[in-house]
Amino acid sequence: MYYSDEVIEEVRAKNDIVDVISGYVRLQKKGRDYFGLCPFHNEKSPSFSVSRQKQMYYCFGCGAGGNVFTFLMEYENYSFAEALKFLADRAGVELPQQEFSKEARERADTRAVLLEINKLAAQYYYVQLKNSQGEQALSYLKNRELSDDMIRAFGLGYSNKYSDDLYQYLRGRGYQTDVIARAGLISVDERQNVYDKFWNRVMFPIMDVNSRVIGFGGRVMGDGKPKYLNSPETMIFDKSRNLYGLNRARSSKKPYFLLCEGYMDVISLHQAGYSNAVASLGTALTLGHASLIKRYVKEVYLTYDSDEAGTKAALRAVPILREAGITARVIRMEPYKDPDEFIKNLGAEAFEERIGRARNGFMFGLDILEREYDLGSPEGKTDFMREAARRLTEFDEEIERNNYIEAVAKAYHVEYEDLRSLVVKTAVRTGLARPAERPKSAGARSDRKEDGITTSQKILLTWLIEDESVFRQLEQYVGPEDFSEGLYRTVAEFVYEQYKEGRVNPAKIMNHFTDEEEHRKAASLFHTKIRELTTAREQEKALMETVIRVKNHSIDEAARNLDPADMAGLQRLMNAKRELQDIQKLHISVN
Ligand code: GTP
Ligand code: MN
Repeated sequence: MYYSDEVIEEVRAKNDIVDVISGYVRLQKKGRDYFGLCPFHNEKSPSFSVSRQKQMYYCFGCGAGGNVFTFLMEYENYSFAEALKFLADRAGVELPQQEFSKEARERADTRAVLLEINKLAAQYYYVQLKNSQGEQALSYLKNRELSDDMIRAFGLGYSNKYSDDLYQYLRGRGYQTDVIARAGLISVDERQNVYDKFWNRVMFPIMDVNSRVIGFGGRVMGDGKPKYLNSPETMIFDKSRNLYGLNRARSSKKPYFLLCEGYMDVISLHQAGYSNAVASLGTALTLGHASLIKRYVKEVYLTYDSDEAGTKAALRAVPILREAGITARVIRMEPYKDPDEFIKNLGAEAFEERIGRARNGFMFGLDILEREYDLGSPEGKTDFMREAARRLTEFDEEIERNNYIEAVAKAYHVEYEDLRSLVVKTAVRTGLARPAERPKSAGARSDRKEDGITTSQKILLTWLIEDESVFRQLEQYVGPEDFSEGLYRTVAEFVYEQYKEGRVNPAKIMNHFTDEEEHRKAASLFHTKIRELTTAREQEKALMETVIRVKNHSIDEAARNLDPADMAGLQRLMNAKRELQDIQKLHISVN
C-alpha cells in the first residue's frame, strides 16, 4: 500500500459518494437511496443505486458496484492512485508525498509518461500521413474508401520509411530510450541499435474508453506480412480490457454493439453510420471484453468474418457474452468476407437488413453443433440433446432458460417437459449456486480459473456480508481462518471485526485494497448476487453445502499442515471436525 489507511479513509470520507457520482449521473432520491441510469450499461429505467448511508453504489442491472474510488476507477479508467489523487484534490486534502513509496511513485509516473509518449506518437504519425511522405499511405486509405472525417476521427496515421524516425523525435522531446521501449514503440538489438517498431505502415491508434492512446495497430500497405503489427501489451495496454472503437461506441444511442474482428471493419461501419461498432484487439474475445461491453449494452451482434475461422470465433464468443449477461446474435456476411467488404459492395441498407435477419447466438451454436451428430439415429439425437441440455443450464435466469428450452424443443421436435427435466437433472449435477461476475474482475488473467473451493469461499463470504442473520447463525462455526490466505481472509477478518463493532462498513473495507485488480475483486464480494434459486429452502440447502465445503477444505488444509507433535493443533483439529458434525445438524435460515 502506498498511502496510510488513515489518509485513504480521510479522502474517502471527505468525498461523499452521492455528491461525486451526481457529477456524472443524474440521481433521484427514492427512500433512503438515490437512483439513476447506470453509466456502465445501457438502460431505460434506473437500476443504478447509490447509498449515502453505506457510501457504496450498486447497479441491479449489471452488477457494477463499489465505493467512491471504485466508481472513478471504473468510470474514468483510473488506477487507484489516480482516483485517490483526483478525490484528494477535489476535497482539498493534501496527499503526503513521502508516503508514496519509490516503486509506487515510479509506477504512477511511468503510466503517465507512457500515455504521453503514445499520444505524441499518434500525433507524429498523423502529421506524417498528411505531409508528402505519407502520400502513398493516404492514397491507400482513400482507395479503401475512407473519408477524411473518419481518418481524423480515428486519428489514422503513417509510420514512414526511416528506421528510427519516431525514436529520434521522441528523444528530441526529452524521453529516455528505456521508457520509449516500455511504450512498445521501438526495439533495441544486441548492439544497442534502436529501431522503430512500426515502419512504412498505415497506423491505427488504439484508444481506451477515454480516448487516451494506449497502443497501435499498423497495417502493411498491400500484401506484405505480417498484415498487421500490433503494439505489445504494456503497463497501459491490456488487450483483454480494451476494445477498438469503444471510445466512440460508448456514446452511441443504439441499444446494441456490433462486434467485429478487424480495425477496418470498425471504421467502415462507423463511416456507414454504425457508430456502435467495436472490435477486440487482434485477440479472441475474453470475458474481460464482455464485461466491458456489458457496461454499455445488453445485446451484441457478432459480425465476424464469414470464413471458417470467423464462424469458430463467433461460436466461442456467444457463451462468453452470455456469461457476462449479454444476448448475442450472429450476422452472416456471405457472400462477402467481412463487414467492410459487405458494406462497400451492398451498402448500409443491405447491412441493416442482415441485422434484422441475425440468428440468435445460442440457436446458431446448435445449428453448427448439429453437424457433429447423426440426428437420424436415436443415439445421435440423444447425445445431441444431452449437449443441448448442458448448454441450456448455462442460462441463469429461469424465464430465459425456459424460453430457450421451448425454442430448442420446438426446433428439434422433442417434448418441452422432457427437455426441461433433462436440463434440470443436468443442472443439479453441475451445481446450482454461482456468483454473478463483476465487470472487469471477470476478465482478470489471474482469476479466470477460479477453482471450486475459491468459488465456495467467495459465495459464503458474500452471504455473511449480505445477510447479518446468516452471519449470526454461523459465526460460532466459521471464522476468518477458514478462508484461504489473501484477499478472502483479509476481507473476512474485516467483516468479523466490523460485525463485532456493530455493522459491516463495506466502503471502509474497500479502502484497504489499493491494487486495481484486488480492489475490483473485493468489490465483487459485496455485490455478488446469489443466483436466484426458486425457494428459500433451496437457498438454504445451497448455503449449507457451501459452508460444509469451505469447512471441510479448511480442516483438510489444517490436517495437511499439522505437525504430528503439535498436540494443541491436533486438539483444534478434532474440535473443528466436531463442529463440522454440528453444522451438518444445523438448520440455517435465510432472509
Ligand atoms: P483488412 O481489411 O485486410 O485491412 O483487415 P481487417 O480489419 O479486415 O482485419 P482481419 O479480419 O484481416 O484481421 C482481424 C484483426 O486481426 C486485425 O484487425 C488485427 O488486429 C488482427 N490481425 C490480422 N492480421 C494480423 C497479423 O498478421 N498479425 C497480427 N498480430 N494481428 C493480425
Ligand atoms: Mn477486411
